[in-house]
Amino acid sequence: MEPIVQVMELFRHQRAVRTFRDEPVTDEVLHTVLEAARHAPSGSNTQPWRFLVLRDAGVKADLSFEYELAQATRAGRPSPSREQAEAGMIARAPVVVVPCVTVPGRTGHAGFQTGASIYPACQNLMLAARALGLGSVLTTTHRIRRAEIHALLGIPVTYESAALIPLGWPGRAYGPNRREPVEMAVCFDHWSE
Ligand SMILES: Cc1cc2nc3c(=O)[nH]c(=O)nc-3n(C[C@H](O)[C@H](O)[C@H](O)COP(=O)(O)O)c2cc1C
Repeated sequence: MEPIVQVMELFRHQRAVRTFRDEPVTDEVLHTVLEAARHAPSGSNTQPWRFLVLRDAGVKADLSFEYELAQATRAGRPSPSREQAEAGMIARAPVVVVPCVTVPGRTGHAGFQTGASIYPACQNLMLAARALGLGSVLTTTHRIRRAEIHALLGIPVTYESAALIPLGWPGRAYGPNRREPVEMAVCFDHWSE
């Protein structure tokens, strides 16, 4: 995918990318997308996040196994083998970002909604990635195997994992996303069907 500088084009071309080339994501590129994430808004500007960045092949393979198990559970499919998991999206992505957020009541932080204070950062990260020509996809199926994944990654009880975001150079070309026209999503002044 080509880099994009025009912001409306960026929104139009933000896609779920699940196949990646076997090409590294440099520290500089990674830093840029994490910079974008940290500029996101959060409730009372508490910035209650921590971004766990996974690059180690063994860690990604273990996580991929849990993710594929979660996917299989959700779809009612048989459990994957270790080999299948190692060929999966999470294992094959050069980088996987796990955006984590503190949980109100478990830290003393209050006054914000957990998801509302982390998903804007996820979107910033993904849009910055796309602007650079990188692909990503926001995934939440891992939550089915939350306990195992939190134990695997050492995520403390005071944090929740909001997503797994694989990140890398896309393995194929992608057209623009397909969404309903704005008229179908909007009503003015009063609710209407
Ligand atoms: C809350 C949420 C959860 C998602 N979870 C997953 C997931 O677990 N696995 C996955 O492959 N994609 C996941 N996606 C990606 C969506 O399937 C994708 O964004 C949607 O189909 C639109 O794709 P497009 O942008 O390429 O048109 C998720 C997206 C959102 C917003």
